[in-house]
Amino acid sequence: MTEDWIIQTNDLVKKYGEHVALDSVNISVKTGATGLLGPNGAGKSTLLKTILGLIALTSGGGKVLGHDIATEGAKIRQRIGYMPEYDCLTPDMPAIDQVRYSGELLGMNPFAATQRAHEVLEYVGLKDQRYRQISTYSTGMEQSAKLACALIHDPDLLICDEPTNGLDARSRTFMLDTLFQVVKQGGRSIIMSSHLMDDVERICDRMLMIHKGQVIAQGRIEDLKAIDREIEIFVWGGASKLEEKLNDMGQSVRRTGRVMRITRVDDSTYGTIIEAAAKTGVQIRKMQDYEPSLEDLFIVIMDRLGYTVKSSSDLLESTTPAMDNAANQGRQIA
Ligand SMILES: Nc1ncnc2c1ncn2[C@@H]1O[C@H](COP(=O)(O)OP(=O)(O)O)[C@@H](O)[C@H]1O
Ligand SMILES: [Mg+2]
Repeated sequence: MTEDWIIQTNDLVKKYGEHVALDSVNISVKTGATGLLGPNGAGKSTLLKTILGLIALTSGGGKVLGHDIATEGAKIRQRIGYMPEYDCLTPDMPAIDQVRYSGELLGMNPFAATQRAHEVLEYVGLKDQRYRQISTYSTGMEQSAKLACALIHDPDLLICDEPTNGLDARSRTFMLDTLFQVVKQGGRSIIMSSHLMDDVERICDRMLMIHKGQVIAQGRIEDLKAIDREIEIFVWGGASKLEEKLNDMGQSVRRTGRVMRITRVDDSTYGTIIEAAAKTGVQIRKMQDYEPSLEDLFIVIMDRLGYTVKSSSDLLESTTPAMDNAANQGRQIA
C-alpha cells in the first residue's frame, strides 16, 4: 500500500445468510474527501462497517490506514471517527457527557476527553447547547452531536454514513460546511455516504458508486465526468428537424426544447453538428462544451449498465428501483 492509499480491499464479500450485500468489492481510496453513492440497499452502510472492522467478512480482505480489517478492527477504530447512520446517542445524557464518554471509550483519559469534548461541541456549532440533554435536540443538533462524538479523538479519517439524512436545508448546509472544514482546514480524510448527488458534489473530489453490492464506478469525479463529454447547442427554430438529422448522421442527441446536447465523440463532432445545421437550414445561436454534473454522470453510468433512469431520485430514493436489464448487472463502467 503506497502512502496516499488509505483504504484498499480485495474481493470483499459480505453475506447476510444467503443475501449477498457486498459482492467482490475492490476499492482503493486515497486521502481527501470521497463520496460513497448508491441507492438504498446498495450496501453502503455494510461497506463502511466492514472498513471499520465492525462486522465479520464472509471472504476477501483489505487494509485501512495500514491495518488489516479482519484482525485489527480495534486499531482501525482508534484512528477513525465514525458517524453512524442511525441513532447512537443516549437521550437522557447531556451532550457534553455523551461526547466525553465517546472519548473515554476510545481510551482517552477523562481530563483530556472533557477538554476536547468542549472544543468539538463548539466546532460543530453546539457550544451554547452543550449542557442540554440529547432528548431536547432537533435532528440537526443530534447529527452535529454525533459528529462531535466522531471527532473527539482527532481521527485521521472520518466516516460519515448519510450525515445529512433527515436534515432541513439550513442544517444540511451547516453539516456539509463543517465536514468540508474538517477536510480542507483540518487536513483530514473523509468518506461520506449519501443517496444525494449534490451532497457529494459539494465536498468530495473522489467518489465510489455502488449498486447491488458491486462497485460500478470509482475515481476522481473530474476524471469520471470524462465519460460524459457533450456539446451543448442552442438553436432558433427547427430543433426537431435538426435532432432528426443528427440522429440520421449517427449522433446521440438529448434534447430539451431548443437546447440539445450531443455526445462528443471527438473533435469531428463539432463539424458534424455544423454540417447538420447547414443541411437543415437551422440556425445555431450558441455552441459550447457541456460541463456535466454528478447527476448527469450517474444517469450515463446507469444507462451504460442497461438501466433506464431519468434522474437519480428515480433510483436513489426508491427501495424498489425500476430496472430493466438484469443481464447487464455487474459490468463495471469505470
Ligand atoms: N444485519 C443485516 N441482516 C440482514 N440483511 C442486512 C443487514 N444489514 C443490511 N442488510 C441487507 O443488505 C443490503 C445492504 O444494506 P445496507 O448496507 O444497509 O445498504 P445501504 O446502506 O446502501 O442502504 C440490503 O439489502 C439490506 O437489506
Ligand atoms: Mg445505509
